[in-house]
Amino acid sequence: MSDSLYIPESATKAEKYEAILPQIEALITGEPDLYANLANISAALKEAFDFFWVGFYLAKENQLVLGPFQGPIACTRISMGKGVCGTAWQEGKTVLVPDVDAFPGHIACSSASKSEIVVPVFKGGLVAMVLDVDSDQLNDFDAVDQEYLEKLMGLLGSKL
Ligand code: SME
Repeated sequence: MSDSLYIPESATKAEKYEAILPQIEALITGEPDLYANLANISAALKEAFDFFWVGFYLAKENQLVLGPFQGPIACTRISMGKGVCGTAWQEGKTVLVPDVDAFPGHIACSSASKSEIVVPVFKGGLVAMVLDVDSDQLNDFDAVDQEYLEKLMGLLGSKL
C-alpha cells in the first residue's frame, strides 16, 4: 500500500474523483477491519477536497451513531428520520442539501456547515451506515459528487 494519496492539481472535481477512487479502492481492499477502512476513506476525501467535515454514521438499533470522521467534533447520535442523515437512512437514498438552513430539521453540529450531502451504504438491502459530507460553502455539492460518492459507497457496501 502506498503511504500517500496522489491528488492531481488543477484538475476538475470529476478528474479528482477519478484519480482518488481507485486509490481508495486499493486502500480498503485487503483490509478487513471496517473502522480502519472508514477512517481512511474519511481522511482521503478530506485530503482530496478539503471538505469541512467528512465521516460516517453507523446504524445501530434505532439510531445512527457517529463513526470515523475528519473535522470538528460532531453530534454522536441521530434518530431515524431526523436531520439530513436520518432522512437519508429512512429513505434509503442520497440527500443533497444546497443550503442547510432551507432543510427542515437539519441538525447543526456546527454553525459553519452550509451545504451537505449524505449517501447511504447498503448491506443486504438495508442501510448499514451513511457517509456525511459537509461544506462551509453554500451549494458546494452537485451531481458529480453524488455520482462518485455513490460509486464509492457502493464499493464499500460490496465489501461489508
Ligand atoms: N447535519 C447532519 C448532522 C451531522 S453533522 O453535519 C456532522 C444532519 O442534519 O443529519
